[in-house]
Amino acid sequence: MADLNELTEKLSNIRQEITEELKKIESSQGAFEYKKSIMDSKTGKIGSLMREMGKIPNELKAEYGKKVNEIKNWAAEEFEGFEKKLKEAELKKRYESEKIDVTMPAKMQKKGNLHPNTQVRNQLVDIFGSMGFNIYEGREIETDYYNFTALNIPKDHPARDMQDTFYLSPEFLLRTQTSSGQVHVMEENKPPIKIISPGKVFRSDDDATHSPMFSQMEGLVVDKGITLCDLKGMLDLFVQKIFGEGTSTRLRPSYFPFTEPSVEVDVSCFQCKGKGCKLCKGTGWIEVLGAGVVNKKVLEDCGIDSDVYSGIAFGIGIERIAMLKYGINNIKLLFESDLRVLDQIDD
Ligand code: PHE
Repeated sequence: MADLNELTEKLSNIRQEITEELKKIESSQGAFEYKKSIMDSKTGKIGSLMREMGKIPNELKAEYGKKVNEIKNWAAEEFEGFEKKLKEAELKKRYESEKIDVTMPAKMQKKGNLHPNTQVRNQLVDIFGSMGFNIYEGREIETDYYNFTALNIPKDHPARDMQDTFYLSPEFLLRTQTSSGQVHVMEENKPPIKIISPGKVFRSDDDATHSPMFSQMEGLVVDKGITLCDLKGMLDLFVQKIFGEGTSTRLRPSYFPFTEPSVEVDVSCFQCKGKGCKLCKGTGWIEVLGAGVVNKKVLEDCGIDSDVYSGIAFGIGIERIAMLKYGINNIKLLFESDLRVLDQIDD
């Protein structure tokens, strides 16, 4: 290369080429790669210019070197600016895509809730637990004796017709009432006795308010001097806690073979406050449970001296309470596991 004009032209072509090429590059990585290829001391268009120095006549060497340095500096600046611009754009884009809006409402996590039956059962256990009751876990499979005979319902007693029973054999059956637990408790323990016994019971019964399997919670208190007044006091507290302040109970005469006297317990209507509405069928009262003073014969058969001790018992239908409390009109809704229904009940 003897002629500096030739060099000048070459350098101007290189500049032009770089300028054009940079327009096409879109990433800082691409820019870096391109810079490397141009500046490479062996193969690079600019990097290799110095190797040609040997071919340059001495008197032109200074000028040649100056020009080569010029383009080197120019290219370095050009690449630096270009890379910086791309890097900034890339960073901005990344910040945009990774931006966190701390003011955005959190995603609601759907949390499960207990089944309405379980909720009611837990509430009952809390209420009676606070009155000093212990829990007795009864058996779902019972003998005819514990479910009927020991409760003063001998064979052929008409009261057996009150409950359609699933018999497993002539001796064994699915308990029709948690009252069967009363007998076990009284046989196994000496008074004072104060237990509740929640659990499943079974009857061959099926309509909007009855299901072949449902849940009851038995209550039994046996001690000296226990009367119907104790029952009324406990049940008044129970309805106030379950159905709200201001509710009270009313006892109506009824019949159960294992209690004497026996009562049906009504709660004052918590919806209309006693004025009369659809729920209470215009009467101001809703029947909630059966109860009574433990029949002396039942106490004696369990080995408890009925001249010294007396007892009260009650049986609460858990589904019945859940249906009343949560406005459920068909017991099947409690057994169908439809989350659209169950999700609504979270006390
Ligand atoms: N066991 C009775 C029933 O299922 C309810 C009850 C329990 C009545 C305790 C009196 C005493 O209908």
